Amino acid sequence: MAPVAAGGGDREIGVALLGLGNVGAGVVKLLEDNAAAIRARLGARLVVRAIAVRAPDKKKRLVEVDRALLTTDIEATLSRPDVDIVCELIGGDAEAKVAVESAIAHGKHVVTANKLLLARHGTAVFAAAEDKGVDVYYEAAVCGGVPVIRVLREGLASDRVENIHGIVNGTSNFILTEMRDKGTPFAEVLAEAQRLGYAESDPTLDVSGGDAAHKLAVLCMLCFGAMLDSDAIHKEGIDTLDPRDFAYAEKFGYVVKPLVIGRDHGRAVEARVHPTMVPARWLLADVDGAKNALYVTSYALGGSMYYGAGAGMMPTAMAVVSDLIEVARNLMAKAAGARPTRRHRALAPKPLLPMTEIRSRYYLRFSVADRPGVLGQITTILGNHEVSIAQVIQDSERDPGHDSGATVFVVTHEAREGDVQAALAKIAALPIAAAPPRLIRIAE
Ligand code: HSE
Repeated sequence: MAPVAAGGGDREIGVALLGLGNVGAGVVKLLEDNAAAIRARLGARLVVRAIAVRAPDKKKRLVEVDRALLTTDIEATLSRPDVDIVCELIGGDAEAKVAVESAIAHGKHVVTANKLLLARHGTAVFAAAEDKGVDVYYEAAVCGGVPVIRVLREGLASDRVENIHGIVNGTSNFILTEMRDKGTPFAEVLAEAQRLGYAESDPTLDVSGGDAAHKLAVLCMLCFGAMLDSDAIHKEGIDTLDPRDFAYAEKFGYVVKPLVIGRDHGRAVEARVHPTMVPARWLLADVDGAKNALYVTSYALGGSMYYGAGAGMMPTAMAVVSDLIEVARNLMAKAAGARPTRRHRALAPKPLLPMTEIRSRYYLRFSVADRPGVLGQITTILGNHEVSIAQVIQDSERDPGHDSGATVFVVTHEAREGDVQAALAKIAALPIAAAPPRLIRIAE
């Protein structure tokens, strides 16, 4: 097989791929499948000169490539004079960071899909790129194929983003949708997500909210100019959800979604990742399966939503190859490095708003004894903590696994999280409590 090439213009732009997993294979396939269109749009050929892999002798690959392109020597690949753009698709942060920093040091432009790398080391990577006058593009890092990075960087460049609500992890959204609609057990849906290539190589990152937190950190950088401590972002996974909560969400007019929420408070940024009840009338409530969506509220435009495939081989590869084309265009216009990534908005470290200070509505579930005065005790404690109740349902069904006579479901008006948590701690300590209370935040 001839070297992978797209286009047929005289000029060739050399590309090195680091990694040939799911996304890397998609990139190779797309460069071949859309070669003519890319040539027409770019006026040059994108030529893959080398592909760094861990095991060049691996028999089964997702795509066929010329074995002469495969190498285990990342450093040699990065220093090749015929490589203009390095495409980092290794994932993780240790090896990827060394490779990206070395690529930049060699004066190569970088395209990456690595949200963890940007969330943890974005400041250093962008600073190094700016010093060297090279581009770093990362459209595929957030929402897979949905071009939200371009929207935030270019489309809304004149606006001021106030808050964002997003479904940015396809695996979690896929799992919740299948569990809700088909009652398929969690583990079975997760295995299917892995088979379809949605999940991370370590799928706990998907279901625990870690992957979404990395993406939220990148979004907060673009929206609010805030470099956050991404590891400190509050996150709750979908693995703690109880099927009863899906049913009661529906009764109260909500749908449970794996949401990321970001809001600029000036001196601090509110950033959180957790399963959230969203009103059934919201557009985000209809975002199902592995689809992602970002709902942006900005000063001039108001609400706008961006929707599409957030995971999977070809959608993610599409975003990577679009970045390759844009960097190649910059190179051809001699404009590469002219729009430093970190300067499109002034970036500064910003503290996270403590979770006790956020304000939200809440769905609360209490497994309690079915005795006179129980409901009164719960509502009194909530009231004493300034938590006002909007709706209550009591179900006399026993909580499976607990010696409870009833389950009480409460929806509150907006309250301060610190007050809600203090009230829950008091209720949990009552003799009537049969199990720890459950809390799910509601977005309104
Ligand atoms: N594991 C990720 C997801 C892939 O499920 O959304 C895209 O980053």
